Amino acid sequence: MLLTRDGQVAELSREELLARLDTSRLPRHVAIIMDGNGRWAANRGLPRVAGHKKGMETVREIVTASSKLGIKALTLYAFSLENWKRPRLEVEALMSLLTLYLQNELKLMQENNIKFTTIGRTDDLPGAARKWIDKVKAETAGNTGMVLDIALSYGGRWEIMEAAKKYGADLLAGRVSPQGLTEEAFSGYLDTAGLPELDLVIRTSGEMRISNFLLWQTAYAELYFTDSLWPDFGERELIAALVDYQGRERRFGRTGEQLGAVNGNGAMEGGGHAV
Ligand code: IPE
Ligand code: IPE
Ligand code: MG
Repeated sequence: MLLTRDGQVAELSREELLARLDTSRLPRHVAIIMDGNGRWAANRGLPRVAGHKKGMETVREIVTASSKLGIKALTLYAFSLENWKRPRLEVEALMSLLTLYLQNELKLMQENNIKFTTIGRTDDLPGAARKWIDKVKAETAGNTGMVLDIALSYGGRWEIMEAAKKYGADLLAGRVSPQGLTEEAFSGYLDTAGLPELDLVIRTSGEMRISNFLLWQTAYAELYFTDSLWPDFGERELIAALVDYQGRERRFGRTGEQLGAVNGNGAMEGGGHAV
């Protein structure tokens, strides 16, 4: 059993961590709450926007590394519904950076066979950002590698509420029956429909909260918190999080003994109500 909690992996190099990583047991879907840009900048006496710019470089590194490692889906929390409450200038800077990111990274996505998608109320975004979102989605739609899913103007409660509204409309129109509503069917109404089950959530910057991210999907996800600020996070620490994940026993409600009997290695695939 590997014991690699933050701190214990701190001394290991990228190569040492890679040697400990079992690429046949990677989480299928990793989501990251990219937090700490503002503090990174403040620590250097820089404006918050400088932290967001540096954070964009981390996004590039993590997207590339995740895709090369063979992760199937990566969801990045870039802008929450609540983030609209930030000062207008910061919101505008974040929107400009988003547009710039999409313009710059389309090439990298094509080179890495990455398919771009979004979750959240993207209709709220300024026109330039929406235009580039549509363009990058359309141009990468046929790619078959990792799905890069960016959460923009996203809120977990909002997503569940929207799903309920869509379901309600189908119900009223007689397209579905209440008896037919299963967890799987309801998941199909969420923005994340079609993405693999969420296996691992990483949050940087030492905050231990979910901040309205993927509330439905986190039901049985593993959580990994690190004190690193997002601009300081990198490939080495991503691998550390993956190694840590692989050292955990995902029980989905069962006992450790049962899991040993199921497949002999303490790890188990599947959702929260496997019987
Ligand atoms: C995360 O960094 C980026 C966004 C939420 C857009 P923050 O801007 O929240 O950084 P801190 O938490 O103030 O350090
Ligand atoms: C969460 O970070 C949202 C994103 C990373 C986009 P925040 O910095 O907005 O979260 P809180 O407000 O500290 O919970
Ligand atoms: Mg923050």
